[in-house]
Amino acid sequence: MLNYLGLPIAASTHASEIDEMIVLVHWLMAIMFVGWGLFFIYVLFRFRKRANPKASYSGAKGKISKGTEVAVAIVEVILLVFYAIPAWTKRVKALPSESEAVVVKVVGEQFAWNVQYPGPDGKFGRTDVKLVAADNPLGLDRSDPAAKDDITTINQLNLPIDRPVLVHLMSKDVIHSFGLYEMRIKQDAIPGMSIPVWFIPNRVGQYEIACSQLCGLGHFRMRGFITIQSQADYQKWFDDQEKELQPAVATPAPATPPPPAR
Ligand code: CUA
Repeated sequence: MLNYLGLPIAASTHASEIDEMIVLVHWLMAIMFVGWGLFFIYVLFRFRKRANPKASYSGAKGKISKGTEVAVAIVEVILLVFYAIPAWTKRVKALPSESEAVVVKVVGEQFAWNVQYPGPDGKFGRTDVKLVAADNPLGLDRSDPAAKDDITTINQLNLPIDRPVLVHLMSKDVIHSFGLYEMRIKQDAIPGMSIPVWFIPNRVGQYEIACSQLCGLGHFRMRGFITIQSQADYQKWFDDQEKELQPAVATPAPATPPPPAR
């Protein structure tokens, strides 16, 4: 419906609310742009040098200018009070409970998005900066019982459709920004803070996680993917990831063949 604005596909439940606001703000700006443009042309003509050889220092006084100013201010207050503030409040206050939502940790770093799922126990395993290594970017301590079933991925976030998602957003180094355009989500990731971000995806597909904050030389390649799947597909992905975590337990070691006789 709003394709004429060139907005990305809307893939979350609150996207239409954001789009509606974008449309209203653009209408206000369009009207003001045309109004100011016409007024400028009028002023160029009305106060031309030939008709006004002597400058007037008192300026023009009129009810229309005051009225227009007040009208613009009223429209802006309406946009702020009835659209922007309620939408923002919902994003920062009406967080879904941890029990009903899919909870994940997303940690930005130069230049990747690290994802941690708590696993079937619902508990995030302990992480420690001392354990951070190339193959363990989150510094996850696998000796912690809560960490044994934790799934970690890099630049890939799988989520089921139609369920609230609660992301605890963090950063390891500098300020990044978690930009999910199709979900109409954008939030800065700030070192030393864990910021909750939530949304309900409602469209199956593969979308981009863009870093929306210039964070260094590799900013352009700090790009991840978000895959929205049906509940069944998500569960299958989740179970496959869990299986990969315990390969030694699940499959017995193959029997070694006897040495060839000489
Ligand atoms: Cu991270 Cu730009």
